[in-house]
Amino acid sequence: MKSTPSAPLVHIETFGCQMNESDSEIVRALLKREGFLFTQDRERADVLLLNTCAIRENAHNKVYAQLAELSELKKHRPLVIGVLGCMAQNLKGELAEQAPLVDVLVGPDSYRRLPALLSQALAAQEDGFAQRGFALDLSEYETYEGIVPDREGGVNAWITVMRGCDNFCSFCVVPYTRGRERSRDPQSVLTEAREAAARGFTQITLLGQNVNSYRYGEWDFARLISAVAEIPGILRVRFTSPHPKDFPPALLQTIAAHPKICKHIHLPLQSGSDRILELMGRTYSADEYLALVERIRHTIPGVTLTTDIICGFCSETEEDFLATQRMIELVQFDAAYIFKYSERKHTIAARKYKDDVPERVKGARVATLVDIQRQISLARNRRYLGTEVEVLVERDATKSPTQGMGRTDGNLTVVWEKGTAPFQPGILLKKHIVDVSSTTLYGK
Ligand code: SAH
Ligand code: SF4
Ligand code: F3S
Repeated sequence: MKSTPSAPLVHIETFGCQMNESDSEIVRALLKREGFLFTQDRERADVLLLNTCAIRENAHNKVYAQLAELSELKKHRPLVIGVLGCMAQNLKGELAEQAPLVDVLVGPDSYRRLPALLSQALAAQEDGFAQRGFALDLSEYETYEGIVPDREGGVNAWITVMRGCDNFCSFCVVPYTRGRERSRDPQSVLTEAREAAARGFTQITLLGQNVNSYRYGEWDFARLISAVAEIPGILRVRFTSPHPKDFPPALLQTIAAHPKICKHIHLPLQSGSDRILELMGRTYSADEYLALVERIRHTIPGVTLTTDIICGFCSETEEDFLATQRMIELVQFDAAYIFKYSERKHTIAARKYKDDVPERVKGARVATLVDIQRQISLARNRRYLGTEVEVLVERDATKSPTQGMGRTDGNLTVVWEKGTAPFQPGILLKKHIVDVSSTTLYGK
């Protein structure tokens, strides 16, 4: 028989981007403050929470598959099920209808209401009935000021510095799931970073959907990131995701000048065709993007560049696709995340354009680019053969506990045999690169 602990036990699973990882840490903090306890073991939990992503169809499918499993569990024992995050916000009524066993739906700006909603659902369940609770208001102000995220271990602390997005790229659901752009008070960001350093985190990653659009009074992103990099104990500072529209020279110079700010920029391109970029509402042309790449490489020598690409956006022709392929060959990114376009409800593209590129064509275009990028990544990684790189030690390698894993300043993954040398996550080590693949550097 399941023992009933005095406080409800919660299990949370997180899907989607780092913003969701960071939000789950906020959710844990909010719930622990109200006496909830957490378990890694789904079977023991009284409350199961899914923090969901809505960015592409397969993100939805994963959540629906999980919900089907949880509904099965709920047939055999009392259980409160909560769906949080972007999918809850975007699908609302539809999700409530399709998943009748979901008790609580809470969007990204309403997590302060979660403890009360869960308590009500648990109390109702004890009394033998179901009470559903929804909190789906988007806010222009909520930044979870004053909530110290409940971080799991590791060397990296995520710090969300701005929430929401006002860009409304026509394909993207984020402005609808996360609402309007708002930046956090820099003093609260710095306090949080100092606390993370005091607890032993040596890397900070500043997060936002347009992190470089950060603005708070006199503070812009360049000022914020240098202030974080000055905090004693912090060895590395990263940021993601920036938008190509917001890279003033001062920001590039700041990244170049500060030894603790990592020389890695994730610069989502999406498409190499000007016509498609215009339909996407990205606000730059292929030439402007290339000029930015040149400026970045000139100001920050040795910088690692990565990107996101969408294949098969509405009306994309073979010619548009070839323009993207040429950009990939021209820029020589270190890595690229390549996606099939997936129509999202409520977006501008869903309302205005036709999702008319056949699935098969989308798939073939993705496969072509993945193949080209793999060769480029391999060639880029080969440049490190025989060199020495500095690695921030993260953890055991996934494939073997005898190997350690860490990352270079440029965010490249390095794996090495641990041997008898001391192995301590969070410290910097020098590694001599003896072999490479398209995704990994092997060190000694
Ligand atoms: N704010 C970030 C993007 C977050 S979403 C930025 O602007 O860089 C991460 C990536 O998912 C995007 O860069 C895009 O390539 C991809 N994406 C977003 N919406 C998509 C959709 N409807 N279909 C396919 N890919 C999508
Ligand atoms: Fe989506 Fe564009 Fe905002 Fe990125 S910048 S989150 S792609 S709308
Ligand atoms: Fe997904 Fe929401 Fe992030 S849609 S990618 S979890 S912002």
